Amino acid sequence: MKKIKVGIVGTRGLQMMLGLKSIPDVEITAMCDLDEEHLNKSADEHGIEKRYRVFEDMLDSDIDAVVISTPMQCHMPQTVAAMEAGKHVLSEVTAGVSMDELWWLCETVEKYNKIYMYAENYIYTPEVQLVKNMVREGLFGEPYYAEGMYLHNLDGLFTYPNGKTSWRSYWQCGKRGNFYPTHSLGPVMNWFPGDHVTEISTFSPGVYNDFGLKQDSGTTTMCRTANGKLLNIRTDCMSPRPHNMMTYLLQGTKGVYRSADHKDDKELVSFVGENNPIGNMQWEDLMNYKEYLPERYKNATEEQLHAGHGGGDFFIVEDFINAIRTNTQPELDVYTACEWTAVGLLSTLSVMNNAKHIEVPCFRPKLTTEEKKIILD
Ligand SMILES: NC(=O)c1ccc[n+]([C@@H]2O[C@H](COP(=O)([O-])OP(=O)(O)OC[C@H]3O[C@@H](n4cnc5c(N)ncnc54)[C@H](O)[C@@H]3O)[C@@H](O)[C@H]2O)c1
Repeated sequence: MKKIKVGIVGTRGLQMMLGLKSIPDVEITAMCDLDEEHLNKSADEHGIEKRYRVFEDMLDSDIDAVVISTPMQCHMPQTVAAMEAGKHVLSEVTAGVSMDELWWLCETVEKYNKIYMYAENYIYTPEVQLVKNMVREGLFGEPYYAEGMYLHNLDGLFTYPNGKTSWRSYWQCGKRGNFYPTHSLGPVMNWFPGDHVTEISTFSPGVYNDFGLKQDSGTTTMCRTANGKLLNIRTDCMSPRPHNMMTYLLQGTKGVYRSADHKDDKELVSFVGENNPIGNMQWEDLMNYKEYLPERYKNATEEQLHAGHGGGDFFIVEDFINAIRTNTQPELDVYTACEWTAVGLLSTLSVMNNAKHIEVPCFRPKLTTEEKKIILD
């Protein structure tokens, strides 16, 4: 089989390194970063010969695919450049920083027909995958409500070590709204297969910190889906509290899942049954149901587990490489990427307009100009 040659742009792509290295017939041949010292250090460490400071120069090399892990504002322009150069793309979150960028991204993938995959890694954790299969098997009955929260105080990341203002000060916390909804919304949407977000309203308590940035002290977006389900998506990167980037809840007609709140806590579920009657229901360990884990997680090798997150960091790149090999867009395709990103972008508009209700466009192939309208009422 012909080797798939991969180039990486941006530091975070190194997180994919272990996974990519454990796939036979994949070779990481090139690396790009504006920071030359960092570029050489990382490339030396991983034995990568071809090094570039300019992204477009890396695209002139013989790579088949690129992992884009630069700051958020670079994702869309770099994806367009990569696809124009005939490369497949695995893009870090989020997909773009404006609605116009999202339309352009969809059109680019449709035009060049290269593989685009959204690197939403949180849905690849064993817990999220386990709950997904339990939903599919009907253990929760009909799910109708979910919560996803990303609680990550970013103090310390608003400037670079040299004191200059970092991209996070502008593209993340320089804005209002759920600027980073994907790690909370992505896993939750995984539990409502075939559904999508159609409308949002975003609320915030205002600013209760001294960072001097526009981001509120926590933002909550209520989402309604096409099937009428309710989702509560919260991002808080400003409040003083321990991190918890994976806080979830799923409620169905027959049961409930609640993620661990802190490192000593357990992932819990509770299902209605003879021994667990309504009115006196008790929690039990989610791992009592580990037989529902997808087969590849159950059979993960030492090498796959070593990639991180119980094998999740391997399976995400495995899905990308399989998509390239079979020339089939992956489940985390450009439309999914844009829908989840759009919820964040539109939440800015909503919170700035007193929680105005906004319709989320339905991302799918060949939308007309009329269908791309943003409707506030
Ligand atoms: N999926 C996750 O769990 C997760 C976690 C952290 C960050 N991220 C995402 O990863 C991305 C990077 O975040 P980070 O924390 O590593 O940022 P960072 O600022 O620490 O690193 C960005 C790197 O990209 C390089 N860079 C910037 N512009 C470039 C350009 N035009 N060409 C080449 N190199 C360039 C910088 O020199 C730097 O080394 C962001 O989009 C962020 O949202 C995702």
